[in-house]
Amino acid sequence: MKVIRDMQEWRALRKKLVGSVGFVPTMGALHAGHASLLERSVARERITVLSIYVNPTQFNDAKDLAAYPDTLEDDLQLAEQLGVDFVILPTYGDMYADGFRFQVEENQLSRSLCGADRPGHFTGVLTIVMKLLNLVAPDRAYFGKKDYQQYTLIRDMCETFFMNVEIVGCETVRELDGLAMSSRNKLLDAETRSRVAVFYDVLSSASSDKAAILALENFGFKVDYVETIGQRRFGAIVVGPQSEKVRLIDNVVIEAARGPGRSFLQGDKNTTTVSAG
Ligand code: PAF
Repeated sequence: MKVIRDMQEWRALRKKLVGSVGFVPTMGALHAGHASLLERSVARERITVLSIYVNPTQFNDAKDLAAYPDTLEDDLQLAEQLGVDFVILPTYGDMYADGFRFQVEENQLSRSLCGADRPGHFTGVLTIVMKLLNLVAPDRAYFGKKDYQQYTLIRDMCETFFMNVEIVGCETVRELDGLAMSSRNKLLDAETRSRVAVFYDVLSSASSDKAAILALENFGFKVDYVETIGQRRFGAIVVGPQSEKVRLIDNVVIEAARGPGRSFLQGDKNTTTVSAG
């Protein structure tokens, strides 16, 4: 495995790579969810590239950015064990030489759910993902469906801008008690961690969004939203003591419940091909 910090070196090297390239973009603090994306890529592609870059433009809260876990040594060890070929570690200077002058903005889906509480968040995500996809030029890029809204927006962006990449959506990996794997789980104190498993249970079993909100509030969580769109119920809660608030998101497929349909979140397939050729 080669770790590359110099993006000029990477771009020169990329031109020489032969065979399919799979890409997993991350912000580090790797967990079993990331591992499953990397495993999928390693199994399918000739070459797998992992990027680790904590993207400041997608954080609308400076405290949240400062608290983001940094576990680079462990991340590199895991990547090596999983058979990753290249890890790229770009800097702010590499990714934002333009000072964020150019941005990718979506004006519908990005304003709802997580976007309603985090203005500018998805503009930061879409802008960095477009830059990373151009930098890596993969055949396929792998994203987790825990961040389903993000996955949908990226898939649609690639289709809209005729990008030659296939966006592969991968199922959410969960802890034994149902909690979705997330880098933010590392920030939970033991007491909070033991209580948050109910988030998944409530989203899966509540008879309505309103019932889910009430149940989560009764458990002492601040609920940002619970909303069912089509057959998928989305939720975001804020947990933990005042000084160490952590925001968790999740989504589940609800067979029985049906919220108002929204075309851009429907047509859920495990893999969506957006390649032009
Ligand atoms: O899901 C993430 O970790 C980030 O939003 C991503 C896709 C790496 C962009 O910074």
